[in-house]
Amino acid sequence: MEIYKANEERYLSCSYRRCGKSGILLPPISLGLWHNFGSVDVFENYIQIAHTTFDQGITHFDLANNYGPAYGSAEENFGRILKKGLGNYRDELIVSTKAGYDMWPGPYGNWGSRKYLMASLDQSLKRMGLDYVDIFYSHRPDPETPIEETMGALADIVKQGKALYVGISNYNAAQTEQALAVLKEHKVPCLIHQARYSMFDRWVEPDLLNVLEKEGVGLIAFSPLEQGVLTDKYLQGIPADSRAAKSTGHLQQAWITPEVIEKVKKLNAIALDRGQTLAEMALAWLLKDRRVTSVLIGASSVAQLMDNLHALDHLDFTSDELTLIEEVLKS
Ligand SMILES: NC(=O)c1ccc[n+]([C@@H]2O[C@H](COP(=O)([O-])OP(=O)(O)OC[C@H]3O[C@@H](n4cnc5c(N)ncnc54)[C@H](OP(=O)(O)O)[C@@H]3O)[C@@H](O)[C@H]2O)c1
Repeated sequence: MEIYKANEERYLSCSYRRCGKSGILLPPISLGLWHNFGSVDVFENYIQIAHTTFDQGITHFDLANNYGPAYGSAEENFGRILKKGLGNYRDELIVSTKAGYDMWPGPYGNWGSRKYLMASLDQSLKRMGLDYVDIFYSHRPDPETPIEETMGALADIVKQGKALYVGISNYNAAQTEQALAVLKEHKVPCLIHQARYSMFDRWVEPDLLNVLEKEGVGLIAFSPLEQGVLTDKYLQGIPADSRAAKSTGHLQQAWITPEVIEKVKKLNAIALDRGQTLAEMALAWLLKDRRVTSVLIGASSVAQLMDNLHALDHLDFTSDELTLIEEVLKS
């Protein structure tokens, strides 16, 4: 394969959003490498997805130490993609990674200790062939480790120059307030919170979004398509090539009940009336709230990626559309 050269017009159409009260602008749609970039996946396919992403002005690629499978393989494969040309644009990229879930055996390969976070980031940098990441996250709160230790490790990582910014993921509103207070003592502000948020999972709405707005921290919404359920993919059953059908996918078939599909069908009809696919509408619905800096999608093909990016062509909703959607979600 030839060395990749980016589309020269990549910045003409994407409008970026400020991440909280920081200096960083993020694309409204970012690409996550949780699935589709592991050692079980096809290099030619995912390198095309990565190139098309950047060619469309999408600058943010999100990873974690254990994305794959196998653990670590998404970072290794992203490193290969960088070496094949994308890395020539390093200063135009926001690359994030995380530690907090199971990664290696024994007591130091999981959760939130300083020992784990420091070692894990060193391993991630090696796998990707990078000197630094743009954002390093604590992937989940650790009930057994003092928050001062976890946040202290994040702050020191920034001071060492191994990450430019820090983030937290899966922290509830109260845990977020505690984490932000400790980071402030270290004079290392939290850039971003990565939380699950979709039409079907709205846990961030009552408290977390308000805390983040008050504190000037951006929100990036993960699994905004509910791993593919909030698309037209499962309307006629479970396709063989879908995440729900694959043994390596995290989407449980048991979760795709007739009741869920009934709602998806109704949402699909509303989307078609708006002249959008359901995937586009599900993303636009999140982005209508300016507190959501970016939505973090996955894609198993270039076609899916392009479908999702078309969400940006129609982000507005009439109050009638919002009421109809609310009725379906609350039914
Ligand atoms: N911080 C955390 O704890 C955490 C947890 C989970 C995820 N994340 C991050 O969030 C990212 C996205 O998560 P996700 O992959 O669950 O996101 P998602 O966008 O909700 O789901 C992506 C999947 O939906 C299907 N899909 C996407 N676009 C489609 C379209 N236009 N039409 C039909 N199907 C479509 C594809 O599944 P098929 O393979 O079936 O085609 C794709 O792999 C991850 O990569 C990761 O970076 C973070």
